Amino acid sequence: HAHRTTAAISHVFRGTFIHSTQKTAVQILEDALLGVNAEGKIAFIGTGVDLHKLAQAFGFSPSEVTQLTQHEFFMPGMVDTHIHASQYSYAGTALDLPLLQWLNTYTFPVESRFKDLDFANRVYTRVVKRTLRNGTTTACYFATIHSDASLLLGQIANDFGQRALVGKVCMDRNEGVKHYKETIQESQEETSRFIAELLNKKYPLVKPIVTPRFALSCTGALLGQLGAIAKNNNLHIQSHISENVEEVNLVKELFPESESYTDVYHRHNLLTDKTVMAHGCYLSDKELDLFRETGASVSHCPNSNIALCSGLLDVRNVLNHKVKLGLGTDVAGGYSASMLDAVRRTLDTSKVLTIQDPEYNTLTFEEVFRLATLGGSQALSLDDQTGNFEVGKDFDALRVNVAAPGAPIDLIQCEEPKILLEKFLNLGDDRNIVEVFVAGRMVVPFTEPVDSCTAE
Ligand code: GUN
Ligand code: FE
Repeated sequence: HAHRTTAAISHVFRGTFIHSTQKTAVQILEDALLGVNAEGKIAFIGTGVDLHKLAQAFGFSPSEVTQLTQHEFFMPGMVDTHIHASQYSYAGTALDLPLLQWLNTYTFPVESRFKDLDFANRVYTRVVKRTLRNGTTTACYFATIHSDASLLLGQIANDFGQRALVGKVCMDRNEGVKHYKETIQESQEETSRFIAELLNKKYPLVKPIVTPRFALSCTGALLGQLGAIAKNNNLHIQSHISENVEEVNLVKELFPESESYTDVYHRHNLLTDKTVMAHGCYLSDKELDLFRETGASVSHCPNSNIALCSGLLDVRNVLNHKVKLGLGTDVAGGYSASMLDAVRRTLDTSKVLTIQDPEYNTLTFEEVFRLATLGGSQALSLDDQTGNFEVGKDFDALRVNVAAPGAPIDLIQCEEPKILLEKFLNLGDDRNIVEVFVAGRMVVPFTEPVDSCTAE
């Protein structure tokens, strides 16, 4: 399936490349050559090729090749399938209440402030920079109910070069904080305006995503309208599902005609192959079958599931149902904006389930690496463009130096690439991520002017 493009080669790297394929959770290519073309796409990748023949065939000079060191490798950029950009200001605090009280006490009052574009600019600049710095090359964002602030988030992601799905949040029901909601008409009109204006900007890497907050904050009528908007414009959809027991019980009361929480979304045309639903801790096997049939995916948010005492998602069971699954930070229910944290919490959750049942088929670090990269891109239906190092995809990549100065990993001896990957996933941080590329453009270290906030 390697297809040739005619675009000129803009960078060539030589060294270790680690990525996932459908068949292999961790595929390691040592002393490989990877070429990126002027469109930011992977033009070639291979091992054991003659550099001079390759250079001639693709029209680049062997002297332009960037050689990685022994402790370095490239891996695909990580995909955060669920993050609330609007909650970043209080990340790391306010984790003392269960979901529904947490929303009323902390979340809705803060989200109300995004009517103020200056506040929105400060928060959104910080979250885009922080996530890119941590290796999130693709983010699926919730903003707030405010269209203009949500458009600003799209602009900021575009300016810093992050691939993003951006959702203006929709909610026409809110018993807890009565002023933080829309009428059904506002929600529908503002969603249409947000989509039209964002598409009009023609940002190459930023797309709108239809975002009913969750069943409890939407009337059935609004859910139906949002399903229709998504269908008519062939758009992505995101929401929350089955995160917490109290929430699941209230959904049953509010939608008595529905057979299940999943059915609430399904009957409003919100389950499609471009839908991603966060959490899903309490989905039944029958509901997971409906996910598979419709092609909808699950975003696993383990930090948030534990921090808000919501539940433990059985990822193995979701995968056994052949449902697409990616990882999410769920800032600020999850306190960390780093996908490395999501990787670790995913492994921890799987090990807690193993403590509870020693027969449990524990996730391996190799599988979780795939979920953080290729799995996430599949969950967002962006895997034709990103997720691994297949020829023709965009070059979204992290240059990792396991022995980077100041970073928290001590290498006592030379280690093979798989050990380097495992150490990075378990012990590393942004100091090990020396460069980040999105669609072939180096976005870390930052090349854009820094934001206006003085507390840099
Ligand atoms: N369910 C509805 N809204 C939210 C939110 O903002 N965060 C989380 N974790 N769950 C939700
Ligand atoms: Fe969430």
